[in-house]
Amino acid sequence: MKHVLVTGGAGYIGSHACKALAAAGYVPVTFDNLVYGHRSAVRWGPFVHGDISDRAALDAALRTWQPVAVMHFAAFAYVGESVTNPGKYYRNNVVGTLTLLEAMRDAGVKQFVFSSTCATYGVPSCVPISEDHAQNPINAYGASKLMIERMLKDFNSAHSMRSMCLRYFNAAGADSECETGEAHDPETHLIPLVLDAAAGVRPNVTVFGTDYPTSDGTCVRDYIHVTDLAQAHVLALQALQAGAASTAYNLGNGKGFSVRQVIDVAQQVTGLNVPVVLGAQRAGDPPALVGDARRIQAELGWQPKHADLADIIGTAWRWHQMQRMASK
Ligand SMILES: NC(=O)c1ccc[n+]([C@@H]2O[C@H](COP(=O)([O-])OP(=O)(O)OC[C@H]3O[C@@H](n4cnc5c(N)ncnc54)[C@H](O)[C@@H]3O)[C@@H](O)[C@H]2O)c1
Repeated sequence: MKHVLVTGGAGYIGSHACKALAAAGYVPVTFDNLVYGHRSAVRWGPFVHGDISDRAALDAALRTWQPVAVMHFAAFAYVGESVTNPGKYYRNNVVGTLTLLEAMRDAGVKQFVFSSTCATYGVPSCVPISEDHAQNPINAYGASKLMIERMLKDFNSAHSMRSMCLRYFNAAGADSECETGEAHDPETHLIPLVLDAAAGVRPNVTVFGTDYPTSDGTCVRDYIHVTDLAQAHVLALQALQAGAASTAYNLGNGKGFSVRQVIDVAQQVTGLNVPVVLGAQRAGDPPALVGDARRIQAELGWQPKHADLADIIGTAWRWHQMQRMASK
């Protein structure tokens, strides 16, 4: 059996990737310090409790499991916090990843699938955003991910370590069998916040900015179903195993939805009212972020199966309800 070391495998996207890896015949070995992840989300392979900045723990895991590749989800990903506390982001994301890459280099593991982000593009000059768009991140989170992309180029040149940088837009939804889902704490993502407001877990949801140059004045984002995202990771890994060269791919649906549209669809899906509070624009929130993912479709044959927003919100809602029932 081929093992894959999955850093951050106890988190939202990483746990879905573990399920997809297991379905594709790999053994996902989750390496996570559980700072934000959940032990209960590790269901498809062994668990190693470790921190990516702990070189000895990484060496031991690589020695024990002899993975064919590493999928790297472990990171801090709160944009606002990265602005007020950039050191925390550069240390965990950049220094942590450097430790991981050096451990891989010394263990002879030469394939790497990386969770990058549309935040590496900054404020786009045009949408949809293609992979060739200039990368000018406007916060430390995006900058930390861009630095890792740069390190990967250098590790490829020096050590023949090949990598796929997957630049996600907004991950959303949950496993259709409700075996895992989104459970961030604190939660900052729109769809779970809207569902919390629908369910009365939160009193309301704040719409930040109603005067953007978009069709209804609210921000437009590209939502990609987490299961489609997970499948793209398996395709990227398989391409690397087949000898593909290092590259970067966008992962989005190529279609933007405004905050108001998300709220409307969530009301339809849940049959519940979503109380809304109108707030001011947040600094550094671009009006529209929509990804052009035609490259991964053409080169790796990736096809999103859950591009419909009602489908995305529907799976998130089922997971949300199940979690609420379980906590009662
Ligand atoms: N959620 C999104 O919409 C989105 C969009 C673009 C990119 N990303 C990237 O995808 C990845 C996964 O995001 P997510 O939403 O699943 O986040 P998440 O917080 O649910 O998962 C991250 C996991 O990494 C673990 N972790 C963090 N630091 C660690 C460390 N030093 N050592 C070991 N484990 C550590 C956490 O415990 C957690 O389980 C992140 O790298 C994020 O930057 C996410």
